[in-house]
Amino acid sequence: MQRVMSQLERVAASETRVCILGETGTGKELVARTIHERSARAGGAFVTLNCAAVPAELIESELFGHEKGSFTGAAGRHIGKFEQADHGTIFLDEIGDMPLAMQAKLLRVLEEGEVERIGGDKPVSVDVRVVVATHRDLEARVREDKFRQDLFHRIYVFPLALPPLRERHEDIPLLVEHFAAQVSAQNGWKPVPFTAEAMAALQSHQWPGNVRELRNIVERLMLLATNGQVDVATVEIAFPKGGGVAASSAFPAGALAERVDAFEREVILAELKRSHSNVSLAAKSLGLERSHLYKKAEQLGINLRAMRREQGSPQE
Ligand SMILES: Nc1ncnc2c1ncn2[C@@H]1O[C@H](COP(=O)(O)OP(=O)(O)OP(=O)(O)O)[C@@H](O)[C@H]1O
Ligand SMILES: [Mg+2]
Repeated sequence: MQRVMSQLERVAASETRVCILGETGTGKELVARTIHERSARAGGAFVTLNCAAVPAELIESELFGHEKGSFTGAAGRHIGKFEQADHGTIFLDEIGDMPLAMQAKLLRVLEEGEVERIGGDKPVSVDVRVVVATHRDLEARVREDKFRQDLFHRIYVFPLALPPLRERHEDIPLLVEHFAAQVSAQNGWKPVPFTAEAMAALQSHQWPGNVRELRNIVERLMLLATNGQVDVATVEIAFPKGGGVAASSAFPAGALAERVDAFEREVILAELKRSHSNVSLAAKSLGLERSHLYKKAEQLGINLRAMRREQGSPQE
């Protein structure tokens, strides 16, 4: 995420077209908005169109607008998103789902910097920065003839790939704290601490819904918290049956290395729990040197120090 943020800082200040790539809930819209806010266009509008949510026959009118009476149902003049975004930024979300016919029209706008309202008689020039996002593999869409290659090259100037949460479990504690503070503030609740074991359990989850799912779970956990804290038992009841920590880690998604990491994390956590966070004991039953277990835990994002503190075990 730090790499993404430093790329974002640099590209935001430019006029470059950015293509944000990432699974659902990884923060694509948040990043698009941040790019706009940190650009010289921040004083202008930030206008969004979700290409997957608007019916194909309405996208053109949504983007370019229409004149009164230009088609059945066009009761009045409608100013399209491109004109609304003049001197600002247009965010075309789920661009990979844009129908082919519409792609041709978008290409023309990107090349000429002009839009034509449906039923209009002259083009209107617009000064708009274009930021797009998709959860799809755009290059594959091009190969499958579902996305125009010429349009691809126009929008794929600066790809910004947001990593899924399962590939950055070391970010989870920070995000949990952030969302916990946010939820407390929204509801006027006292802060609810998360135990290190609960945090480790959250880190071993696969998070198919990414940051959005994490945010929802944090809110749920805070509602379920007993004794003023979120512990591992709270985490166990927070995940609905079938989608829980255990179920998801039994069949984790992703590359082999990720699955192995998730499995190792789970085995080590279980052993630490059994030994009441006694590292020497846990290392012995796992057949590891103590130093090796420390190293492994660090790699896997397990916070041994915090776990021992909670167990009241002596510092080694
Ligand atoms: N790094 C982050 N810090 C804080 N909040 C985040 C972060 N990343 C994402 N979020 C929050 O997670 C939620 C999902 O983010 P967002 O809507 O930007 O994802 P998305 O990639 O556009 O998802 P989708 O593909 O489903 O539209 C939002 O509430 C957003 O504010
Ligand atoms: Mg989105």
